[in-house]
Amino acid sequence: MHLFLYGPSGSGKSTLGRQLAHDLKLPFVDLDQVIEIDAGMSISEVVEAEGMAKVRDLETEAMKQTINGKESVVALGGGALLRDENRKLVEQNGRVILLKAEPSTLLNRLGKDPNKRPLLAGDLESKLKAYLEGRAGHYASFPLQVFVDNGGIEQISKHVQALAGRHHLSAMGEYDVIVGRAFRVTNLQNPIIVTDENVAKFHLEKIQGLFNAKSIIISPGEEYKNLETVSRLWRAFLENGLDRKSTVIALGGGVIGDLTGFAASTYMRGIDWIGIPTTLLSMVDASLGGKTGFDLPEGKNLVGSFHPPKLVIADPGFLLTLPERELRSGMAEVVKHGIISDPDLFAMCQRGMDWVKDNLEDVVKRAMAVKIQVIEEDPFEKGIRAKLNLGHTVGHAIELVSKFELRHGEAIAIGTATEARYAARVGLASQSMVEAIKSAFLELGLPIHIPAEMPRDEILRVMRVDKKKNAQAIRFALPVEIGNVELVEVTDLEEVIQ
Ligand SMILES: NC(=O)c1ccc[n+]([C@@H]2O[C@H](COP(=O)([O-])OP(=O)(O)OC[C@H]3O[C@@H](n4cnc5c(N)ncnc54)[C@H](O)[C@@H]3O)[C@@H](O)[C@H]2O)c1
Repeated sequence: MHLFLYGPSGSGKSTLGRQLAHDLKLPFVDLDQVIEIDAGMSISEVVEAEGMAKVRDLETEAMKQTINGKESVVALGGGALLRDENRKLVEQNGRVILLKAEPSTLLNRLGKDPNKRPLLAGDLESKLKAYLEGRAGHYASFPLQVFVDNGGIEQISKHVQALAGRHHLSAMGEYDVIVGRAFRVTNLQNPIIVTDENVAKFHLEKIQGLFNAKSIIISPGEEYKNLETVSRLWRAFLENGLDRKSTVIALGGGVIGDLTGFAASTYMRGIDWIGIPTTLLSMVDASLGGKTGFDLPEGKNLVGSFHPPKLVIADPGFLLTLPERELRSGMAEVVKHGIISDPDLFAMCQRGMDWVKDNLEDVVKRAMAVKIQVIEEDPFEKGIRAKLNLGHTVGHAIELVSKFELRHGEAIAIGTATEARYAARVGLASQSMVEAIKSAFLELGLPIHIPAEMPRDEILRVMRVDKKKNAQAIRFALPVEIGNVELVEVTDLEEVIQ
């Protein structure tokens, strides 16, 4: 999937393109340069000699060349998509990101730019005004837009990555994370898909066709996230002739991802795996960060490893077959990501389930970007990654005590609301923050209270076994305001779940 940067002259398409290509480890193509090389003269000279229509013809040719080449970041000329044919060509072969800037920013940059732009020759200010007015409707028609007036180039590049749903992670290992339609990955040796019965029913055939792979189908549900299933996977890998160069594909929710990633991390001392998450929860959380593992009867995720996938493909189309309860459950982690560091994402969650369903791809991209930023800063949970545990110390315990009657996300919603109430009681957060969190969960149809009948001593016992304990206290990630979480050592656990 190519990424095309588009927008008016002076919006910084080439500078940003180089940064983006660097971040994504992709080649960078400046389409104007390709045209000038092909034409053997500058664009101004082409305009002078043969007119603007000739430039558009050359643009079409250069686009075709680029699209047929390796995946790349492409900076387009300021009017390159005015021609319908050109627009169709790029939209069918990648994502267009429109760079938006105030006229004053453009004027400032163009004034300093030694390159002569044919359409802006003469009185720059009035020419620019007319140029922008003439193209206002055209530029406004591109759905993915990013402001480039403020912020450093690295930060703007991050915004573009989040908006495009295209990342290259350097956290533990290096791998691409791509939001979009599932696609074929070539050159995999003896690939095998691990999935569960529910996912297989809807999506296995398509993925098997894409990857030309065999499959292992296991029973669905958290109760199968255990050593027995891991051992079944190891043996199935062996029976299917997987060796150290083989790749396993995890097609499913967080349970499939955790189990497959763990089995891959240990089979023959570690083989590659690709994550194709099919639940909202696994797209925005479980598939990212390289944590794999399984449960013991004593607690969740007590055995595991860090073994990042080689690639993650998050196709929001898979969510259309997800049961409503699972979709709501996934939204708990999205709310959590909003609370941790993205107030705008939190505000999206407050709009309720109908809005979310109509804007699923945006929600997925935005929530994934939060997790990616955290794990890139702290891949091995030495510091800020622990913030992702918001709601999880209480949540994991009640999920286990409920014997998985509660979905993971439901338990996390209860855990987050409970920990928020505690944060307010000890003076770390305001009551209005607690109300905002409660109402977001309620709008999404998620629970916020520990079930009355659930034995409190049992919850406390499980919390103490939780892997995040240390000798004296348990470290909690507590919300202090929407967009900000603090790590706090807590000794009085009874007070937390009161
Ligand atoms: N590794 C991590 O960093 C991490 C982070 C968060 C959560 N997790 C783990 O993730 C697990 C929870 O993940 P989950 O909520 O995705 O659960 P899950 O994998 O059990 O999936 C939920 C249910 O949805 C079904 N399903 C999945 N995709 C479907 C689809 N597209 N259409 C129809 N049905 C579908 C599954 O068969 C299952 O019944 C927990 O075990 C949790 O510990 C791991």
